[in-house]
Amino acid sequence: MLNAVNPSTCCILAIESSCDETAIAIYQNGLLAHTLNSQIALHQAYGGVVPELASRDHLTHIHTLIQQALVQANKTLNQVDVFAYTKGPGLGGCLLVGASVAKTLAMYFNKPSLAVHHLEGHLLSPFLSEPDLQFPFLALLVSGGHTQIIEVRHIYDYTILGDTLDDACGEAFDKTAKMLGMPYPGGKYVSDAALQGKAIYPLPKPLMHSGDLNMSFAGLKTAVRQLIMKLKLENQQNNPNNELFPEQIADICASFIESATGVLAHKLKQALQQTHLKQVVVVGGVGANLQLRNRINQLGQSLQAKVFYPSLEWCTDNAAMIAITADLYIQYQQAKFDDTTAIDVLPRCALAFKAK
Ligand code: KG4
Ligand code: ZN
Repeated sequence: MLNAVNPSTCCILAIESSCDETAIAIYQNGLLAHTLNSQIALHQAYGGVVPELASRDHLTHIHTLIQQALVQANKTLNQVDVFAYTKGPGLGGCLLVGASVAKTLAMYFNKPSLAVHHLEGHLLSPFLSEPDLQFPFLALLVSGGHTQIIEVRHIYDYTILGDTLDDACGEAFDKTAKMLGMPYPGGKYVSDAALQGKAIYPLPKPLMHSGDLNMSFAGLKTAVRQLIMKLKLENQQNNPNNELFPEQIADICASFIESATGVLAHKLKQALQQTHLKQVVVVGGVGANLQLRNRINQLGQSLQAKVFYPSLEWCTDNAAMIAITADLYIQYQQAKFDDTTAIDVLPRCALAFKAK
């Protein structure tokens, strides 16, 4: 099967269904098509992703999204050489939808299927738009579930240098948003509100000076909660509803972002100094954050390191990053095509299926 795939002409259909986005990409020497259905509206009423609803919604949309992507790419299923899919990490039922569809199509058309690691997809997503990026580089992975600093030497060759000890940074954004009555997922709302505010409240920067590259965001979230309670109490005399004033909300958001991005930038600076790497990528949903980007850009300038981001569309979950990862596996002749038709997924798995 491996020999049948020609890296220079290979057409990949990639499926991402690990959480609350169903996405399809078609890739052949570049991205030909991308379709996506976001489930945000479906889960918003619950304040977070409901796994059973998520997997059913993937099933509802996946076939239409594949059809639409094929039309966009002007391809037929017959012309696809490899069916790639996210095998993990993610929600088990959601991953099973993508894996089942990819493997069924692969079996029917007698083509290989290829499992891709979701986080590896995020790490390699800047290659979609940054032709100058080269291995090795340093990555700050900041998504809803992960906050890690990773040395990326090559595909399959990663070392996690720093990790969060509790909540992910995206989780802290979402919880802060929830406490302030903003919709889920709240990162973008916190970010937008902060643009109108000032970082006037002193919030902690956990583990800032721990000496290692680990991070922690649970304490910051608790400090935000205490600050909100304190301000509401102070407001009581002027405000019968006991609500926060819009200026206070903006200032809380700005103060939270000042602390969170301060820790991220400081740890990244340490990592750059330790590794002597001169390229940084910032990936994952929180990587879309404007304030974080400004801070990392300044850091890059001060250390003469080049900073790369995926375009905003590829910061949050998508299938283009799964497709480019599959393509890189193939281009470097290291694709490990599935050797069984059994459908298995890995809801929890270390970075890259061949982690060091
Ligand atoms: O990478 P992602 O789409 O999903 C995971 O794989 O987890 O990241 C989602 C996270 C959410 O926590 C969301 O609130 C956050 O990314 N996010 C943001 C922004 N856009 C999305 N956080 C801060 N600022 C943003 N502009
Ligand atoms: Zn993700």
